[in-house]
Amino acid sequence: MQTIIRSTDIDNIDIEVIKLASEFLHSGDMVAFPTETVYGLGANALDELASAKIYEAKGRPSDNPLIVHVANEEQVKRLVKEIPESAKKLMKAFWPGPLTLIFKKSDIVPKGTTGGLDTVAVRMPDHKIALKLIEYSDVVIAAPSANTSGRPSPTTASHVKDDLDGRISMIIDGGAVGIGIESTIVDVTEEIPMILRPGYISKKMLEEVVGKVEIDKAIIEPMREDVKPKAPGMKYRHYAPKADFKMVRGDVLKVADYINKKTEKLIEQGYKVGIIASDETISNYILGDKVSIGSRLDELTISRNLYTILRDFDDKEVDYIFGETFESEELGHAIMNRLQKAAGYNIVDVR
Ligand code: TXA
Ligand code: MG
Repeated sequence: MQTIIRSTDIDNIDIEVIKLASEFLHSGDMVAFPTETVYGLGANALDELASAKIYEAKGRPSDNPLIVHVANEEQVKRLVKEIPESAKKLMKAFWPGPLTLIFKKSDIVPKGTTGGLDTVAVRMPDHKIALKLIEYSDVVIAAPSANTSGRPSPTTASHVKDDLDGRISMIIDGGAVGIGIESTIVDVTEEIPMILRPGYISKKMLEEVVGKVEIDKAIIEPMREDVKPKAPGMKYRHYAPKADFKMVRGDVLKVADYINKKTEKLIEQGYKVGIIASDETISNYILGDKVSIGSRLDELTISRNLYTILRDFDDKEVDYIFGETFESEELGHAIMNRLQKAAGYNIVDVR
């Protein structure tokens, strides 16, 4: 299959691009498109055969449900059994935006889209191209991140091409995304809303709108094998770079000292070493391929670069990666969640 790649400006959307993508969606084919979080691999969520193609193209386990993307509340009503009060408040406060809500699904949503579950994940993305595509085609779009399973999520159209060229009908190139890590997922089917995946919308932001919010135990204690994550996708070791990736936590100068010593030894042994630092600390490093992931004073710069840096280290075929750790509050919680996963929870303390 030839993958058609078409660009369009987010502020001046080329309707021909949207038309073509819409035709593919109506024929049950796949189109990758930008959202404010990461690029999504879309297909008609109400067409079980179209959803099945997504699983095949990504090499995604069939028990890992897809998020359904909508452009208005009418579409939500058709997808779900009921909209609980907490959900109404969250939708009003954060949609369109990087928040996915889990509802009890209605009968029109096929189990092929929900990984066999009776619930459905719904999100209204805050991205003009994504919203235009959903509105124009009048298709609710099932879309996981547009990477092959196990690779970092794509934040540019060229990442999508690297993973899925020849396997999907079309990629809409709308430039680099703004946030860079996937949406916060909140289950609103129980009395107290529960975060199943941290993202840009933090616990504090949610609590300001709905009061008490819980976090899935499996996210707080990821190393416990007896606690199964409620979002099936969170059990997989996502975002894994090819290199051996270790995070180093502690006093800035001690961290740099530890990483510098290890790097020197590994380079002597003939290995390629990558270092993930920040704008504020990068000058502390001597050898190795040093990159700044962004500024500690503006965490959005960090989330935006995170997956690109992991992909770049794959391309450069480094053997080892050492990374600094980041604050674990607000967006930092989501950043650390993704980095720790990428590192397979390989963290050393040098305090
Ligand atoms: O920001 C995002 O959410 C991006 C963009 C494209 O919208 N999408 C995304 O999709 O990250 P994906 O497929 O990579 O991650 C979806 C996550 C998985 O962890 C999956 O298990 C969980 O959502 N999920 C989907 N439906 C669910 C359900 N009914 N119950 C619990 N978890 C669910
Ligand atoms: Mg994903």
